[in-house]
Amino acid sequence: MKIISAEFIKSVYERIQCPDDSRPEISFLGRSNVGKSSLLNSLLQRRKLARTSNTPGRTQCINFFLVNDRIYFVDLPGYGYAKVSKSMRSEWGKMAEEYLADRDELVLSIHLVDSRHEPTTLDMQLHEWLVTNQKPHIVVATKADKLSKRDLQKSIKILRSKMSESLVIPYSSATGDGRDELWTLIENSVKNK
Ligand code: GTP
Ligand code: MG
Repeated sequence: MKIISAEFIKSVYERIQCPDDSRPEISFLGRSNVGKSSLLNSLLQRRKLARTSNTPGRTQCINFFLVNDRIYFVDLPGYGYAKVSKSMRSEWGKMAEEYLADRDELVLSIHLVDSRHEPTTLDMQLHEWLVTNQKPHIVVATKADKLSKRDLQKSIKILRSKMSESLVIPYSSATGDGRDELWTLIENSVKNK
């Protein structure tokens, strides 16, 4: 995909603030620090469009980015960060579920999981929610560059068995491995919109 333009549009704290121009949306979901913002920057070939950090739990709102004036990339806050308060944690669930549950514009969710670890309980909960609610989604195993080829294969195999209903692909935002495949999947999902 040739990126002609990619711009930050806005941060949203409530559903009502979401854009209402009917462009298709691709959402990025996953636990805090898993690499959502990095994946977004990697797909868009912009180094600092979405803010990345070593401090987990940074992104606390839903961020909308407009790509080629045609698709919104939607960066959701990360879940599972222990240090945020309980009320904040339930806020996450509420905000994310409200967005995910019945957003007509949402054509594909990209669920990020860390390729170096087995999926967490929260990863599995989100996965099951996506499957049960029949939400089109792809599982992306992030930080693939941090594993040897052999360990990566092993890890992908485990993910594929635990998330057997879903397509699982490895990705590295550091090297761009997986980028073409993921873009093809994204383009296919927006084609009919
Ligand atoms: P929150 O917004 O806090 O939920 O985090 P996030 O999921 O957006 O993660 P972010 O993209 O900020 O990445 C977290 C850390 O992991 C940063 O230090 C990134 O540089 C690093 N990281 C992300 N993706 C990769 C990758 O593919 N390879 C390597 N080596 N590091 C990565
Ligand atoms: Mg982020």
